[in-house]
Amino acid sequence: MSSPSVSLSTAKPTTARADALILGIRGDQDKGDLAPTLELLGFTGEKGQSVVFPAGEGITASVVVAVALPEEPTAEDLRRAAARGVRAAKNATSVALALHPAGVDEVEAIAEGVALGGYAFETYKSAKKGAKKKDLKSAVILTPFARQSTATKAVERAATVAAAVNAARDWVNTPPGDLRPGDFAEAITAHAGTDVKVSVWDERRLAKEKCGGILGVGQGSDSPPRLVTLSYEPANSVAHLALVGKGITFDSGGLSIKPGASMQTMKLDMAGAAAVVAATVAIARLGLPIKVTAYACLAENMPSGGATRPGDVLHMRNGATVEVHNTDAEGRLVLADGLALAAETKPDHIVDVATLTGACVVALGELTSGIMSNDDELGETVLASSRSAGESMWRLPITEEMKGKVTSSSIADLRQHNPKPYGGALYAAAFLREFVGETSWAHIDIAGPSFNEGGVSDYTPVGGTGAGVRTLVKLATELATPR
Ligand code: BES
Ligand code: MN
Ligand code: ZN
Repeated sequence: MSSPSVSLSTAKPTTARADALILGIRGDQDKGDLAPTLELLGFTGEKGQSVVFPAGEGITASVVVAVALPEEPTAEDLRRAAARGVRAAKNATSVALALHPAGVDEVEAIAEGVALGGYAFETYKSAKKGAKKKDLKSAVILTPFARQSTATKAVERAATVAAAVNAARDWVNTPPGDLRPGDFAEAITAHAGTDVKVSVWDERRLAKEKCGGILGVGQGSDSPPRLVTLSYEPANSVAHLALVGKGITFDSGGLSIKPGASMQTMKLDMAGAAAVVAATVAIARLGLPIKVTAYACLAENMPSGGATRPGDVLHMRNGATVEVHNTDAEGRLVLADGLALAAETKPDHIVDVATLTGACVVALGELTSGIMSNDDELGETVLASSRSAGESMWRLPITEEMKGKVTSSSIADLRQHNPKPYGGALYAAAFLREFVGETSWAHIDIAGPSFNEGGVSDYTPVGGTGAGVRTLVKLATELATPR
C-alpha cells in the first residue's frame, strides 16, 4: 500500500476539491445547513459516529462523511476521527478533512490518522475485480495554520511515523512461511536503506558470540536464527538508547507445542522486533539527536529432532546458565542475549518490546500493553510517551516474590519458567532483568495490542497493528530533548 500525500490548506470546507469531504461535527455549532440531513440520518453526535451522504449544492466534494467529535477534541480523538472518515470514504482517491484542529499537534494527529486508517494489507489478494480497495492518493487538511512552517513539519513527521507503523504492520501480517529469520533479516536490511547501519549475525557468528539463548530457541527450525543490529549515531546525539525486540517469526511452542487454536496467530510473535526496527529507522529519518542501537532477535520456534528439550541448559551471552522448563517460554531466551549485548555497550537506557506473555493479556486485556522496569523514572517516561503517542499502556510491578523464583533452578543459575501461571508477565520481566545488569531498562509486553483479531476500529486494522512504534518514537523524542 502506498501512503497518501498529505497537504495543508486554508480553504473553506465547502469549496475544498476532493472526492470526499470529511467533516467533524462538534455539537450543534458545526451542523449549519446540514442539520436537517444529519437529523434524518439519525446522527446524534455520539462518540464514534459517522454518516455518509452525497454532497448537495454548495459543496464542491462529491460526498460528505460527517464524523462526530467532542466539543474540544484531543489529538487522539482527531487521529481516530480522521481514520474513520478515510475508511468510510473507501474508494475515494482524494479527501479533504475539516476536523477543526486546535493547534499543530492536532494537525499532526489528523495526518497520522489518515495514513494509519488508510492502511490495508492486500499483498496476498488476487487482482479480482473489487477485491482490493482503491488507494487514497491525496488528503488535504483544512486549517488556518496551513501556512505555518511548524504545521508543514508536523505533517512530515506524521508521514514518517505512520510509514513506520505501517511497515511494522506489513511484517506482522506477512505469512510466517514467507518471513522466516533469514527473510526477515533481509527485509530489515532493505528497509533500513542508507539511513541506519545494519549488521546481521548468522548462526555461526551467534555461536562464536556465545548467544546460546537465540541459538537454543532457533535450533529446532531448519531456518536458522539471526541477530540484526541497527545503529543510528548522529553527530549531535545527547543520549544513547538501546532497543531490543523479540522476533520469533513463528511460535509453535517448540516441543512444549501449543494447541492448534493458540498457534493460529503466532506469526505475530515478531511484532516486537518489527516495532523496534521500524521505530529506529523512523527516528533516523526524523534526524532526532539521539544515538539508537536496536537488536532484533530473530528465530523460529519449532519442534524437531534437533529442538531444545525441557530440561536442557542454555549458556547465555552474559555467561549465565538457564534451565529450560517450557520451550514455549522462548521469548525471554532470545531477548536475554539481546539485552546482554545491549548492556555491554553501556547505553543510558534499554527498552525491549515483546509479544511475551499471555499472562499480560489476562492482566490488562487485549488493547493495553504492560510496562515493567527496574527504573521508576524510565517507567514513568515510557508511560508518558505512550499517552502522548495515543497508545494504551499501563505499568506493572516486578514484585519481590519473582526474584527468588527466577533464581530457583536446582542445576543452573536461572530457571526459565515458573510452573505456576500467577503473575506470569512479572516473572518473565524478572527473568529479563537478570540480563541488563545495572542499566536503566524498561520492558514493554505487547502480546495483546500487537495483533487485532476482532474487527477494524478507527485507525487499528485487522491483523498487525504496529503497536509500540509510536511510543518508541515519542520516547526517543523525549530523551533527545534536553531539560
Ligand atoms: N508468544 C507467546 C505469548 C503470546 C500469547 C503472544 C498470546 C500473543 C498472544 C509466548 O511465547 C508464549 O508462548 N508464552 C507462554 C508463556 C508460558 C509458557 C510461560 C504463554 O503466555 O502461555
Ligand atoms: Mn511461546
Ligand atoms: Zn512467543
